[in-house]
Amino acid sequence: MAEILIVDDDVQLRQSFARLLGEEGYDVRMASSGEAGIQAVEDHLPDLVVMDVRMPGIDGIETLQRIQAIDAKLPVVIMTAFGTTETAIEATKQGAFDYVLKPFDVGDMLKIIEQAVSAGRMMHQQVQMGAGPETGGADAIIGQSPSMQKVYKAIGRVAPTDATVLIRGESGTGKELVARAIYQHSQRAGKPFLVINCVAIPETLLESELFGYERGAFTGAASRRVGKFEQAHGGTVFLDEIGDMPMSIQAKILRLLQERSVERLGGQRPIDVDVRIIAATNRDLERALEDERFREDLYYRLKVVTIKMPPLKERKEDIPLLIDYFLSRFSREMQINNPGISDEARQGVEQHFWPGNVRELGNTIKKALIFSRGYPIQAGNIYQAIAGESRDDNDGGGTDLETAGRNWIRAMLASEENPDMFNFLMDQFGRMVVGEALNLTGGNRSRAARLLGMSRPTLQARIEKYNLSLETSVKSS
Ligand SMILES: Nc1ncnc2c1ncn2[C@@H]1O[C@H](COP(=O)(O)OP(=O)(O)OP(=O)(O)O)[C@@H](O)[C@H]1O
Ligand SMILES: [Mg+2]
Repeated sequence: MAEILIVDDDVQLRQSFARLLGEEGYDVRMASSGEAGIQAVEDHLPDLVVMDVRMPGIDGIETLQRIQAIDAKLPVVIMTAFGTTETAIEATKQGAFDYVLKPFDVGDMLKIIEQAVSAGRMMHQQVQMGAGPETGGADAIIGQSPSMQKVYKAIGRVAPTDATVLIRGESGTGKELVARAIYQHSQRAGKPFLVINCVAIPETLLESELFGYERGAFTGAASRRVGKFEQAHGGTVFLDEIGDMPMSIQAKILRLLQERSVERLGGQRPIDVDVRIIAATNRDLERALEDERFREDLYYRLKVVTIKMPPLKERKEDIPLLIDYFLSRFSREMQINNPGISDEARQGVEQHFWPGNVRELGNTIKKALIFSRGYPIQAGNIYQAIAGESRDDNDGGGTDLETAGRNWIRAMLASEENPDMFNFLMDQFGRMVVGEALNLTGGNRSRAARLLGMSRPTLQARIEKYNLSLETSVKSS
């Protein structure tokens, strides 16, 4: 669990806050002054520091600077009381993750803490490239196929430069992992990496989030706010889902790329910022250009260095590796022994289209692990998991078999991937139907043929077509 260091001279706040965080499952340490806080960080790096800005002895700003000198990537959340807001704002300019006003709303505070911990994790947790299935807790980009080798080479080539990089590819192909790998192999690896998801933030907030504003810039702008680009000065900003960025903000991003400066809303002068931009999108940017949803000048500027993530269907040879990786990773996370997977289930995974790519494959293995209850994963567990997976995506609800089946079919149809979709789907069902008939009859082909209302030779042909070995179909009962 994440470890949080609370630095505050107010003993009561320290203790009640520590109790609260403890109940949320965090490990908590406390320090009563800036000096003690720095010492605590030196002794042992926490995952996050939450610190009061005004304390006797050295103040919050100096403490922040000295903590950053120890580890510039350690996220620090500043607490500020009325009257010290300016200092807190200054702290964000110096790279503090965020600040909260005392007395704080517990829900808001916990949300910021969660974000900060996850941001810190992204920076510290190394991404291994092209690793084998056993990576022991590290995040990894799995894949040995030629198209993934190309990706690793591209990462290696662009990472050490300061070039803006555009990562393209379907949903779930690992764009975010690649962004982190580039950052970690860059000269800015010791500096912060900030992620901004352009769809997650409402359009009205995105601009002020990115660029900040001056006091009075609009109604409600009671004090100055430092934008993310300023905050990330010296570091890297990952603009995720840039294809969904509103046009008005695109213009400002272009300016940042060209002039290396930003202007706060309501600001009078540009502020120089030194950030490296990595952007990602799963959108068809060329079509967005035609529809005038994406600026041409920004498009050309971004696409100079592009890394294209191959969809899983174009690197099927990596699927066995991914299955083993996810089995080992999720068993470890669930603290169970890796139960393995039957040949038939493995085939089911290898034959599926994975419209949601690696993310969907991973989620499916995770669910199948739960369904299989410690026994080797069977094909039925996989189909059940796939049906559940697409149900989540469509938010259709329903738990019965028909709904599950329909949702799965819908996901497959929506993928538009198979030119022979009808026959593909019929085969998937045929495989299950024949498999179950064999299960029910203990592998007796004559009886199974009778149950199915087909001749024995027809059944035999199906068994061969679906590559059903008696042993595996019987096991999956
Ligand atoms: N090659 C890979 N090896 C191992 N895990 C992967 C790989 N690609 C993706 N993943 C995992 O799949 C999930 C989705 O990856 P990621 O968030 O990088 O996808 P994305 O391309 O950014 O998708 P989206 O466009 O939907 O945001 C993550 O849990 C990630 O760890
Ligand atoms: Mg992503």
